[in-house]
Amino acid sequence: MKAVQIVELSGPRDALRVVDVAEPEASHPMTPGSGVLVDVQAAGVSFPEVLQTRGQYQVKPEVPFTPGSEVAGVVRAAPDGAGVRPGDRVAAFCMLGGWAQVAVAPEFFTFTLPDELDFAQGAGLVLNYHTAYFSLAVRGRLARGETVLVHGAAGGVGTAAVQIARGLGAQAIAVVSTDEKERVAREAGADEVVRSDGPWKDEAKEISGGGVDVVIDPVGGDRFTDSLRSLREGGRVIVVGFTGGSIPEVRVNRLLLNNTEVIGSGWGAYVLGKPDLNREIGEAIDRLVRDGSIRPIVGARFALEQAADALELIDGRGATGKVVLDVAG
Ligand SMILES: NC(=O)c1ccc[n+]([C@@H]2O[C@H](COP(=O)([O-])OP(=O)(O)OC[C@H]3O[C@@H](n4cnc5c(N)ncnc54)[C@H](OP(=O)(O)O)[C@@H]3O)[C@@H](O)[C@H]2O)c1
Repeated sequence: MKAVQIVELSGPRDALRVVDVAEPEASHPMTPGSGVLVDVQAAGVSFPEVLQTRGQYQVKPEVPFTPGSEVAGVVRAAPDGAGVRPGDRVAAFCMLGGWAQVAVAPEFFTFTLPDELDFAQGAGLVLNYHTAYFSLAVRGRLARGETVLVHGAAGGVGTAAVQIARGLGAQAIAVVSTDEKERVAREAGADEVVRSDGPWKDEAKEISGGGVDVVIDPVGGDRFTDSLRSLREGGRVIVVGFTGGSIPEVRVNRLLLNNTEVIGSGWGAYVLGKPDLNREIGEAIDRLVRDGSIRPIVGARFALEQAADALELIDGRGATGKVVLDVAG
């Protein structure tokens, strides 16, 4: 089968090769001897794969390896007792190996793709929406009627967070850096949009009537202190990632003075050994797709062979929504 591999750790432009490799067995490293085989139609591209081309992500396989953490496609084979069957349309989190014509995923990370979504949207469903749901509902204890400030709101996690927040009955304020990203955040459903180079903290406090309840932050960097300042009493900042480059530090007296919280949210590590939680989140996502709250925003699409262009778009801060490889052409 055709696949794209990372063959050296030299960055997005030079690290990749298009190769011909053997199809995988129906066995996943997380569930040895068992796995769902998927004929891949579309594969997701995300920030971690940019980091993997430089050897900077926490998952560091030996080169050469096939990256690609998530796919959408059609089940070719599934283990007994799995929730999906051959022929089913699915979205699946395979962790690695998704940039290929056939991928394998654990049964508990494979979800029926609702009819409302096409394969490209399915390739953006698991990583971003499960992360956003886990971050807001499980870690952030988001309640109906609360207000959420979403950083990087035109990105993959950001557009998902906007839709999940609204689907859970909260108001979503998007923070973005450009006009085009403002358009995407509005398309995702943001109630209000503020600009990262403007007085966004004061605007968020005004819009929310005194302070937001939750900030979800996939960006990090020097905006973190203002995120804390934008909270109302009892507010929570949820730490999801650091696309801005630097890892913020917190002066914890701020938390004491204002009765606020900083909450870490690492979806993959938390849910890995918890199949029941995965299914529970999958069911919640399914409900939000069916009631119209979730419609993944697909941004740029590339052929599998153009994966380097997809990575460079993300690396250059140019991506919006979910970047997708059309594996089946
Ligand atoms: N914790 C978890 O479980 C988990 C799960 C999935 C992903 N993540 C992490 O979440 C982060 C976001 O992922 P994503 O897929 O949403 O990425 P993305 O689609 O590329 O969006 C990231 C956003 O970050 C903002 N940004 C600010 N400074 C940037 C810079 N120097 N370079 C690139 N972007 C910059 C951009 O928005 P503006 O231009 O509008 O500022 C961009 O839209 C990544 O760090 C990823 O590893 C964490």
